Amino acid sequence: MAVTIKNAEEIESMRVAGRLAAEVLDFITPHVKPGVTTGELDRLCHHYMVDVQGTIPAPLNYAPPGYRPYPKSICTSVNHQVCHGVPGERALKAGDIVNIDVTVIKDGWHGDSSRMYLVDDVSIGARRLCEVTFECMWLGIAAVRPGGHFGDIGAAIQVHAEKHGYSVVREFCGHGIGRRFHEEPQVLHYGRAGTLDRFVPGMTFTIEPMVNAGRREIRELADGWTIVTKDHSLSAQWEHTVLVTESGVEVLTRSAGTSPPPAIAAGRLNWTPKPALV
Ligand code: MF3
Ligand code: CO
Ligand code: CO
Repeated sequence: MAVTIKNAEEIESMRVAGRLAAEVLDFITPHVKPGVTTGELDRLCHHYMVDVQGTIPAPLNYAPPGYRPYPKSICTSVNHQVCHGVPGERALKAGDIVNIDVTVIKDGWHGDSSRMYLVDDVSIGARRLCEVTFECMWLGIAAVRPGGHFGDIGAAIQVHAEKHGYSVVREFCGHGIGRRFHEEPQVLHYGRAGTLDRFVPGMTFTIEPMVNAGRREIRELADGWTIVTKDHSLSAQWEHTVLVTESGVEVLTRSAGTSPPPAIAAGRLNWTPKPALV
């Protein structure tokens, strides 16, 4: 199926789903502490989605071709885990970095977002990897405007990551999103500006770069889901769902707890502050 263009009503539904996904990430923030297991984070988020928000956790039993059904409601990827980490009995400890990836379904529409969480004090190197990956995501977002090309996203991300001596994972990409979790197009996090399809207002897709401190090669664990770096170097990822607007880009996975764009990308985005949570 080709890329879908959302109409005004569908965009409004995507805004709701996006905000709800971000609010799950806000909700879980105070729970990400030493001693908590990733399984407990999954149970907390599952309860919040189903019983508080009335959303459906999209990952639960999700089974794309070639995969066994995903057994949990969120993904938790710790340290050298790149993505799709399956929550379990692992307890977080001070110094860990963990990506929590949440996808909700509300009224049939998907919102998909992830953030890095730093468990207590982490090493300078781990913190820097998380910061640079955050900048990569936002530079990718800032590259979106009608008439531009999908290659502009990948180029912005790859240049920034490699400038810092990091590498970009190639095997997983961002994706169109809407009534389906993963739609066309694929959104590559590497490439060349001015290449690939043009952005069209009404497109909704994710930008979710995975950046490794070491080499870009990855490996899949025996659980059939968890992806790790082959060289065991640390990996970070951030994800937003965005909309191509008539004038630029709108971030759909936005809540009171969403971090504003970093200075390096802010100039090209019109970001009006929202009041913080009380
Ligand atoms: N949320 C992931 C993404 O950003 C996909 C996770 S698939 C799952 O595309 F089954 F592992 F949840
Ligand atoms: Co995604
Ligand atoms: Co995701």
